[in-house]
Amino acid sequence: MDIVVLNGSPKSKYSVTLHYAKYLEKKFSQHDFITHHVGKKIKSIMNKEGSFESILDDIEKADGLIWCTPVYTCAVPYQLMRFIDRVFDEGAEERFEGKHSTTITTSAHFYDHTAHNYLKGISEELGMNYLDGFSAEMYDLLEEEKRENLLKLAERFFHHIKNDVETKREFMPIDYEMESYEPQGVEEVQSSGDYKILVVSDATEEDQNLKNMIDVFKKSCKFDVEVQNLHDIEIKGGCLGCVKCAQSGECVYDDDHEEFYNNKFKPADGIVFATTLKNRFASSRWKLFYDRGFYNGHRPIHEGKQLGYIVSGPLKQDANMKQILKGEAEVGMINLMGFVTDEPDDSERITEQIQQLSDDIAWGLENDFQRPFTFLREGGHKVFRDLVYQMKFLFTQDHKYYKKHGLYDFPQNQYKQRVQNFFLRILFAMPGMKEKVKDKTLEYMVKPLQEAIEEN
Ligand SMILES: Cc1cc2nc3c(=O)[nH]c(=O)nc-3n(C[C@H](O)[C@H](O)[C@H](O)COP(=O)(O)O)c2cc1C
Repeated sequence: MDIVVLNGSPKSKYSVTLHYAKYLEKKFSQHDFITHHVGKKIKSIMNKEGSFESILDDIEKADGLIWCTPVYTCAVPYQLMRFIDRVFDEGAEERFEGKHSTTITTSAHFYDHTAHNYLKGISEELGMNYLDGFSAEMYDLLEEEKRENLLKLAERFFHHIKNDVETKREFMPIDYEMESYEPQGVEEVQSSGDYKILVVSDATEEDQNLKNMIDVFKKSCKFDVEVQNLHDIEIKGGCLGCVKCAQSGECVYDDDHEEFYNNKFKPADGIVFATTLKNRFASSRWKLFYDRGFYNGHRPIHEGKQLGYIVSGPLKQDANMKQILKGEAEVGMINLMGFVTDEPDDSERITEQIQQLSDDIAWGLENDFQRPFTFLREGGHKVFRDLVYQMKFLFTQDHKYYKKHGLYDFPQNQYKQRVQNFFLRILFAMPGMKEKVKDKTLEYMVKPLQEAIEEN
């Protein structure tokens, strides 16, 4: 069989993830593996005549395709996303149609599920038969049990190809026709400079709806709003994954990203992300911007800000993308005030929703409001916390920040709770005590809450 491996890592042959595919190549030497380093070569793939086409030729001739990629900011690296966008832009879906695909990722298991969902959704949009993939931690390949599982998955994949197994779709096809949003008679409110609001937008000339929505937000907001279009700042290329920033806190690129981040993004009190959805994600420009923020490591530097999303496109049909947007907010400890989209609705109602969002953000700022976080933050934080702690030799900037801001909230450091646990365990072990306590368990559980109500 011919298997095409699309390597999304910008690290090319030094990609950790690629080694998982190399292991399969060794173990299944009866098959031919053809690897394309999409992450590393994206510029030439986009610009050099014939380069993109030759990858498509290989895919068309192949029996199966493996998306082999690191997880980058809850999805795949910008470079791979750019490649995928081009496939759709050129209407090249039929080159993939009916083929079999799967995914191998490595990551710290932070939002790896959303990356897999994204690639599954893309594979389904391309008409491929997708076999759920393999999400590894970076060094799982060193463990025999994990290696065996990888081999089993590969065997299943080859079985699917050989028998041309038709897989079930997990995600509904996106069914969307944009209606134009035409705001009428929106009055501009008098704004003050008490708080700074920054709209970060990826609108292009064609994104008229998005531009109109931003305009209405700007007019409706009682605080000064600055709009920054990501196409107007120089970003020379995608994150290289070199991780040099983990120690220096600075990116190796010399372009506008860091200056914009430090001078506009960080000082803002409220942020609104305005984006047009494309192929089950925001634009690749947005992804480029996000990945390149990696020099901020795993630090929630926007903690306490208020956030809103203005989205042009079918967000309500894309639960995965919505979860990524919510997750980014929660893990960043930012208060998400809501989403407004231009999905089929009349222009008047969309305007009302934008005005409401602007009002909510202003209220959130004035009242220093923070909605409690959910699993999206609690789970994400614990993954980050343990990762930074375990790799503090590398993530030195993160380590300092986590110590300073009390983010190393390991349960074993909560001494009061440990002492309480110690005595309760003894109490529960005493003959006859367990039965007595059991009867009163529910009462004891609400006692501190009753006291809190009485005292406050
Ligand atoms: C810009 C950037 C973003 C990342 N985002 C995530 C993420 O969202 N979740 C995660 O678990 N790991 C994330 N990682 C870690 C990589 O997924 C991990 O190091 C991976 O093993 C690298 O694989 P590679 O060597 O094939 O590039 C990120 C790394 C970089 C450089």
